[in-house]
Amino acid sequence: MRILYVEDDPNIAEIYIVMISDRFPLSEITYHENGQKALQELKLAPERFDLVISDYKLSNISGADIFAFVSGQMLGIPFIILSGLDCSSDEKFSNFFDSHVRNALLLKPVSLSELTEKIEWCTGGESDLLKIYNRPSQNNDEKIATRSDSFMKINSVPCDIFLRLRDGKYVKIINNNEVFESRLIQKLIMKGVTHFYINRSEISKYSDSVTSTLSVLMKVKKNKIDDVQKSQLTNKAIEVLKSNLLTCGFNKGILKVADEIVNLQLEMIASSSELESYLNKFQNFRKLNTDHTRLVSYIIVSILHELTWNSESTLHKMCVAALLHDFSLPDSLIDKVITDNKLNELTDDEKKNYLSHPEESSHLAQHFDSIATGVEQFILEHHELPDGRGFPNKLNFNSIHPLSASLHLADLTADLLWEYDFNSEQVINKLNEKRQYYQRGHFRKPYDSLMNTLKIKK
Ligand SMILES: [Fe+2]
Ligand SMILES: [Fe+2]
Repeated sequence: MRILYVEDDPNIAEIYIVMISDRFPLSEITYHENGQKALQELKLAPERFDLVISDYKLSNISGADIFAFVSGQMLGIPFIILSGLDCSSDEKFSNFFDSHVRNALLLKPVSLSELTEKIEWCTGGESDLLKIYNRPSQNNDEKIATRSDSFMKINSVPCDIFLRLRDGKYVKIINNNEVFESRLIQKLIMKGVTHFYINRSEISKYSDSVTSTLSVLMKVKKNKIDDVQKSQLTNKAIEVLKSNLLTCGFNKGILKVADEIVNLQLEMIASSSELESYLNKFQNFRKLNTDHTRLVSYIIVSILHELTWNSESTLHKMCVAALLHDFSLPDSLIDKVITDNKLNELTDDEKKNYLSHPEESSHLAQHFDSIATGVEQFILEHHELPDGRGFPNKLNFNSIHPLSASLHLADLTADLLWEYDFNSEQVINKLNEKRQYYQRGHFRKPYDSLMNTLKIKK
């Protein structure tokens, strides 16, 4: 099976190529980052290919142009289009499903199982034979290489990561689901490490998580900031909020980074028709841009920078988590600080609502492909406490995810800054009182990082 594969992000491409070669060992993949070059090769020798797999949005021409050539020349080659956007409105695709019975459309992020299933279907099951008779016997401890530079965009992966030593032995450098520092990755890349290794048995878990994250990042980058969204909260109000934070010790450059990410995420939410209609149904869209959610975003980005857990993907995920964490709360509770005492003053309905809001808001995040995996967990855990007295799952300092612990602390600090009118001395005192409480397990690092960020207001 000879496949022509076109994708403009080499990091995503490498992962898909590893996946395809792993599942179909006899396949031969010709990869192009540049759509124009792929089209030239196809024009020159179309008989060389049995299948075309192409991303829809490429940097110069689009996947639709490549498809138009295949269908216009009646080459009879099945075509799989991978798309993060709804490409059905593109006129060049009007005859997509008629032009070959085995053409297929896959919405990004595409999982390993979806892709292999479609490749099998596109090649009419021939690949089943290839797979059964030619699959070499595999050893699950065998290591698969993956480009080290994709790790600059992420801060955790759901599998163990190894480094290959000169003598051919492997050492584990990152544990399954551990949040790692970008400094470590940077150092290794500078030493000339081009690839890390994962166990063959974990390849599908790894590829699903990384391709989902990378394709969301790509999509976000391609969107421009929409002035309409920016004006929802007037620029002036945002400036006041930021200047208050500057006097509390926050860094101007980091607040700017946070601003850009928040604006991009708001834009992405507005551009996803599915997500937006869901938000509109609840008439809650404006909640995403309240002082509280902005403030939590600024603080979480500052905490993560200080920790160097600041890969693009983590910052994007945590800003979405900050924007959505209290989403299901009714308006009457959104900007209120609810302490244990105040909880008893709420009506039964409000109380019920308050106690279920992490689960409900998390559910929203989980429901949509445009929100990266992992965000739902951080939202779900933002009210968990070190001593296991939080809600909804009574996790403790060890069982909470370190990024959820960071979100919890950012949320708490946003409430304190509000309560004490941005008086950093009082906020620091309050946080110092809880020092012992938060100096445990996964709360410890984000707590220290938060305290390093805050300074006494002069
Ligand atoms: Fe909350
Ligand atoms: Fe909150």
